Amino acid sequence: MRAVQVTRFGGPEVLVCAEVAKPSPISTEVLVRVVAAGVNPVDAKTRRGEGVARWVGPPPFIPGWDVCGVVEAMGYGVTRFNEGDMVYGMPRFPRAGGAYAEYVAAPSRQFARIPDGISPTEAAALPLAALTAWQCLVDTANIRTGQTVLVHGAGGGVGHLAVQIANALGARVLTTGRHDRDALRTRDADVALDLVGGADTGELVASLRPDGLLLAVADGADDEVRAEATRRRVRLQEPLVEPDGHALEEIAKVVRSRALKVMVAETYPLDQARAAHERLEGGGVRGKLVLEVGRD
Ligand SMILES: NC(=O)c1ccc[n+]([C@@H]2O[C@H](COP(=O)([O-])OP(=O)(O)OC[C@H]3O[C@@H](n4cnc5c(N)ncnc54)[C@H](OP(=O)(O)O)[C@@H]3O)[C@@H](O)[C@H]2O)c1
Repeated sequence: MRAVQVTRFGGPEVLVCAEVAKPSPISTEVLVRVVAAGVNPVDAKTRRGEGVARWVGPPPFIPGWDVCGVVEAMGYGVTRFNEGDMVYGMPRFPRAGGAYAEYVAAPSRQFARIPDGISPTEAAALPLAALTAWQCLVDTANIRTGQTVLVHGAGGGVGHLAVQIANALGARVLTTGRHDRDALRTRDADVALDLVGGADTGELVASLRPDGLLLAVADGADDEVRAEATRRRVRLQEPLVEPDGHALEEIAKVVRSRALKVMVAETYPLDQARAAHERLEGGGVRGKLVLEVGRD
């Protein structure tokens, strides 16, 4: 099959299209013919040898985690899908997901059927970003109606979905962007979602009420931030997104209800993964970048 490989750690130029062995599904796995693969900042970080590179292992490896495609075969024991189902998922994260390829074989319960009414390209833009927002806001923060949620970095892949999910949960949502940081002056947020990191993580501690929750998604928290959170009696979590077919089913319901719409900024053929990474690392992307695998 055709796949993009990270040939060595480095810049976008290390992404090379190659012929590699097609995977075969073992028991409990599905073989998915990939139609579209989403591009995320962690793909670029891992390509550079950062991100989750330590769990992916040394190059060469196939990057990417966001998959939408057709179930082509199933290993022994799979009961939830039929051949021909269009599914989406974020397989194996933080181990190698191998999404930038014509085929992926991965555990069936890390996938769900895509919601009606959206394209495979839109579905491929969802898993990693939507699961991050969902696991933070629903599972970890348990957002309730009327709570105030500050989404820092709201225009990006995770941010634009987090804003919609928080709205759907009945929260009052405050947002920031690179050129609109007024909401950082808030002092009574219940939950702050940090999608920017760096020095801003410490600033977000001050935006929360006592016992409020800071979700340090982008970079985690350093000792200074931890000390400041303790001093202000703010709770702190450093979440890392996990594969979760059940949450993808819940996300599909919200998409079907039209409360959640993913924004695809640009699409690229598989063999232009390098251009997609250059675009991503250039900044200023509104929404998601997606590789369309069947397109040349
Ligand atoms: N822990 C986890 O499990 C997890 C999961 C998903 C993502 N992440 C990480 O979380 C971060 C966000 O992910 P993403 O996919 O949403 O990335 P993204 O699409 O690049 O979005 C980041 C957003 O933050 C904005 N931004 C940058 N600097 C800012 C500033 N100083 N003030 C306010 N806004 C600013 C960006 O605007 P511009 O485009 O104008 O720069 C962009 O809209 C990344 O670092 C990613 O690796 C972690």
